[in-house]
Amino acid sequence: MNNRENWGSKFGFILAATGSAIGLGNIWKFPYIAGENGGAAFVFVYLFCIALVGLPVLMAEVLMGRTTQRNPVGAFKILSGSPVWTAIGGLGVLAGFVVLSFYSVIAGWSLGYVFEAISGAFSDFTTASVAEEHFNSLVSDVTWNVGWHVIFFGFTMAFVYLGVKGGIERGSKIMMPVLFIILLMLVARGLTLEGAEKGIAFLLNPDWSKISGESVLIALGHAFFTLSLGMGAMMTYGSYLNKDDNILSATSLIVFLDTFIALLAGVAIFSSVFAMGQDPAGGPGLIFQTLPLVFSTMPGGFIFSILFFVLLSLAALTSAISLLEVVVAYFVDEKNWPRHKAVIVFGLVTLLLGIPSALSFNVMAEVKLFGKNFFDLADFFSSNILLPLGGFCIAVFVAWVWGFDKAVIHLKEGSAGLLDRNPWLADLWWVFLKFISPVLIFIVFLYSLGLI
Ligand code: TRP
Repeated sequence: MNNRENWGSKFGFILAATGSAIGLGNIWKFPYIAGENGGAAFVFVYLFCIALVGLPVLMAEVLMGRTTQRNPVGAFKILSGSPVWTAIGGLGVLAGFVVLSFYSVIAGWSLGYVFEAISGAFSDFTTASVAEEHFNSLVSDVTWNVGWHVIFFGFTMAFVYLGVKGGIERGSKIMMPVLFIILLMLVARGLTLEGAEKGIAFLLNPDWSKISGESVLIALGHAFFTLSLGMGAMMTYGSYLNKDDNILSATSLIVFLDTFIALLAGVAIFSSVFAMGQDPAGGPGLIFQTLPLVFSTMPGGFIFSILFFVLLSLAALTSAISLLEVVVAYFVDEKNWPRHKAVIVFGLVTLLLGIPSALSFNVMAEVKLFGKNFFDLADFFSSNILLPLGGFCIAVFVAWVWGFDKAVIHLKEGSAGLLDRNPWLADLWWVFLKFISPVLIFIVFLYSLGLI
């Protein structure tokens, strides 16, 4: 076995894992679903979901990774010795491929939009329909779509190629602070616009009448997706942790930062959208049509539009890196491949798999299976099937197969006596992981399949 790399510091791990968690989900999806589903009331429900499912499963993933110092397949193999559980790890690696292939397409648009912003393309957006036409003409252009997907993918591969410490950790230490500073600038811009308070009201005024069974399920599903759970991404990052790092405090901080950034993104986006008199559209339209229109009339909009799409691209890049790392770690650990070879071979395979997704917006739009084009199919198969299934299995495995006694011994390592002084913390984690998380994840799974 070759010498396995480790993070340079716990802080490096926290930044990389926060980078994985903060992605398109935080900046585009969370603000929108929060605004639509009752504002602060939804945020409240979401925080519950994070506490009941998000944090316990995140801890389980990081713990499995750190204990075994392996990718998801190796981790399940070492802890269970059973081919069935090992195959569950394999599903995680598969999910990594599939999620990355379509995630990279939208991430490519973000990068492409940085250049649209720089070229001043947004300055003559006078109406929503002009912004919409511009967007449609870009995504129906095969070269633009595939081209930015390839360029974005090149960046992702470069960081993973440079290794855990020299590429992923070093990159995160630069990209995450930059992301945070840009976001603060956008928040400051948004809040100083006249009428910003209407946007804040949309995001934060609690409307309990909007909380339904469905909005609870949306909150649960999102809590899961936003923390990059269910496919071993956090397990893989956890596998580069040292035994003397405190998992409980590190994962709590990751969860806090992820939620905090999502809320800030919501404040930045909706204060601007409402102050500029626009409607908060749903779907990709919010980011790629409404916002460019908002920037066209906002004072300083040229600069802020560039900053916004740089922010979105960085958020997507640090997430994409974690997805590729799962696949690479598998081939490095299990097949003894050199990292460089794994990155080039499986980077290219994933890149190719993404091309039909990129073409789903133009020449392959009508190529459908089960009524979905390739992009929607890849999204559905991974987000609605592989990830919930993976998360369910991880919770069940740690709680019911690996067992409390063994898991807690490992959890205590590096906790500096915190768990000995407060045994109830471990007990609480256990109850959540054993009963609450699997049941809730299973319900979300049924819901996302349309069965309830
Ligand atoms: N968490 C990311 C987001 O919010 C998406 C993501 C990155 C992800 N890596 C993942 C989702 C692994 C599931 C699994 O956009």
